[in-house]
Amino acid sequence: MLMIRGLSGGYGALPVLNGIDLRVEAGEVVGLLGRNGAGKTTMLRVIAGWLRATSGSITLDGQELIRLPAFRRARAGIAHVPQGRGIFNALTVRENLEVGTRAASLRGGQGIPEDVFHYFPILRERQGQIAGTLSGGQQQQLAIGRALCGRPSVLLLDEPSEGIQPNIVQSIADIIPRIARERGLAVVLVEQNLDLALQASDRCFVIEKGKIVHSATPAELADETILKELLAL
Ligand SMILES: Nc1ncnc2c1ncn2[C@@H]1O[C@H](COP(=O)(O)OP(=O)(O)OP(=O)(O)O)[C@@H](O)[C@H]1O
Ligand SMILES: [Mg+2]
Repeated sequence: MLMIRGLSGGYGALPVLNGIDLRVEAGEVVGLLGRNGAGKTTMLRVIAGWLRATSGSITLDGQELIRLPAFRRARAGIAHVPQGRGIFNALTVRENLEVGTRAASLRGGQGIPEDVFHYFPILRERQGQIAGTLSGGQQQQLAIGRALCGRPSVLLLDEPSEGIQPNIVQSIADIIPRIARERGLAVVLVEQNLDLALQASDRCFVIEKGKIVHSATPAELADETILKELLAL
């Protein structure tokens, strides 16, 4: 279980997060919604350890991570798929996946987990292809697949639907909850694509000016009036 309490932080002296509290259970997908600039990306970066928290606590199954650098958090089981994917364009698909296995090497992980190819069959077919020549949707699948190669217990996904075609958005919406259930993975899904967020999430939170201001079930948010009110659309 990922537990975040009173988390604040941002870019140097500029505070962006303002006391975030969030709990994500193993096997659960939590959707994080909010307007541009609300602090969604910042929040994932602070959890992953790329940005320093100024206060608060982040625990994973009881282990405090707040003072650990990003690579130690990755080894502890936090996987981050950044906005814009962050794959190695010049490496092949297989090499990208192999890089992903390193986070698990100290926890006894051996090689590329077979389920990655079940979830994303295209990655098996394209193992030898240079990653930069994949389509946007295929690159997103590679980015998620690579994260899974580290056998994480937390997966932070930043706008996986951004810039990809609708049929792949749908397949990502289908696969995220399945991976969460089957792997017992705690997923934080940042999304501006509401259909995807509502389909894939068990619970949703709205972030505004670096604070979580509302929580709702996807069923509640399917009501357009409530949604418009919460997101101030
Ligand atoms: N590298 C940076 N240096 C300084 N400020 C930044 C930096 N990146 C983002 N910010 C600021 O932090 C705030 C939160 O940005 P963030 O990227 O977390 O928002 P977001 O919710 O992910 O938005 P979007 O939906 O556009 O991705 C914004 O005010 C933004 O201008
Ligand atoms: Mg963002």
